[in-house]
Amino acid sequence: MSAIPVDSVDLFDQGYARDPYPAMAALRENEPVKFDENTGLWLISRYQDVRSILLDPENFLPDNAIDAIGRFSVPTLRVLARVKFDLPQTLANNGSDSHAGYRRIMTRLFNAPAVAAAVPMVEKVVAEALDDVERRLAADGVCDLATTLARDVPFRVMLRLLDLQSAVDVGIDTLSRWSDASLELFWGRPRGEREVALAREAAAFYAWLTALVSKPAPEPGTLLGALAAHRLPDGERLGLNQKAAVVYFMIIAGQMTTTQMLGTMCLRALREPGLWQRFAAEPAAVAPWTEEVLRRDPPITTWRRITGRPVTVSGVELPAGAPLLLMLASTGSDPEVFDDPGQLCPYRSNVRRHLSFGLGRHRCSGAELARMEADVVMRMTTARLPRLRLSARTAPEMLALLSFRAPLQVLVERG
Ligand code: HEM
Repeated sequence: MSAIPVDSVDLFDQGYARDPYPAMAALRENEPVKFDENTGLWLISRYQDVRSILLDPENFLPDNAIDAIGRFSVPTLRVLARVKFDLPQTLANNGSDSHAGYRRIMTRLFNAPAVAAAVPMVEKVVAEALDDVERRLAADGVCDLATTLARDVPFRVMLRLLDLQSAVDVGIDTLSRWSDASLELFWGRPRGEREVALAREAAAFYAWLTALVSKPAPEPGTLLGALAAHRLPDGERLGLNQKAAVVYFMIIAGQMTTTQMLGTMCLRALREPGLWQRFAAEPAAVAPWTEEVLRRDPPITTWRRITGRPVTVSGVELPAGAPLLLMLASTGSDPEVFDDPGQLCPYRSNVRRHLSFGLGRHRCSGAELARMEADVVMRMTTARLPRLRLSARTAPEMLALLSFRAPLQVLVERG
């Protein structure tokens, strides 16, 4: 039995973010369905419970998936109201019959042939990002991979795949600042002035997106073109708020998660003696190892559902309308499913059974793209900089949000 008292678990705590495994084990063992006073959510920590919930969209609705965790202050609400900030049901938060149509747009853009066709473009983007890393290493002696390579590659790839690069008149630094602020506003625990400042950034992002989706529609094969041509089940066209919400979600879902995954991968590969050099010599070893990092250290650590009717989970009765926090990271470390979960074993028989991309009707539309980006980045970076090493000055702080976890810095030097 785990010795951690489950009542002391604070999901926003830096200590929890650095080492969440003992607390997750305690929850799984002692209270697999536990009400969390801090967030007002029911924590669901066992693999089998989370899997069953994801596969049962009638009883467990996704409607609360991207809601803010707490109530915003009046000044924050005013800032958001000024730009008519609205995230109506579109993709991840849509349990209605309009979801399938939105999802078809995603499938057309990110299906396996589209991802395979994008490999040369991603290789070019990675090569340019590595030029930048080398320039910084030459000039400063160190480079932070979390805020260069891991951040820039998914941004540039996403803008190209969505055919947005010519429409985007702000730099990656601005987009990144807006996205970071949005994540903290909705999945963090900001208070007072900090909350209002984050809302200003999110509002600027939303206003910019509204202007973007108001422009004349481009080709139907692009995201904006597909949204302009799209009809809802009642035959209506999409409103500006629905289009803006899709692009907002896509920029965040398609970029931030992949950035976080790449940061974690680089850190883990550099920390484990000999692994970086092994990937340089044996690039085929990257893909199965990526699955293990996704299982043990997923960038999206939790995701939400709400009960549609009274249900029983692991013997606990929950009323209709109970908000649930599905602890995806905990499911990847559940010893009932993964033997010796603390070890990364790329050749375990169930290496792809993790739930880090969700499952069922809302399973991540970008999973293959994320995997491909991971492969190209690790393969090219280890080949070009095989002697890179982690700097002892790398700060240990993690991004510690309710649903997102990643290193904030991966400082490297030439070996
Ligand atoms: C390592 C990177 C990523 C991880 C860990 C991740 C994880 C997830 C998770 C956990 C969900 C919710 C699944 C559910 O409710 O069952 C999701 C949904 C989604 N993700 Fe990802 N994601 C990643 C990258 C991407 C990328 C690159 C894209 C863009 C192409 C993307 C697009 C989406 C979309 C559109 C949805 C909503 C699907 C729906 O509701 O039908 N994700 N993702």
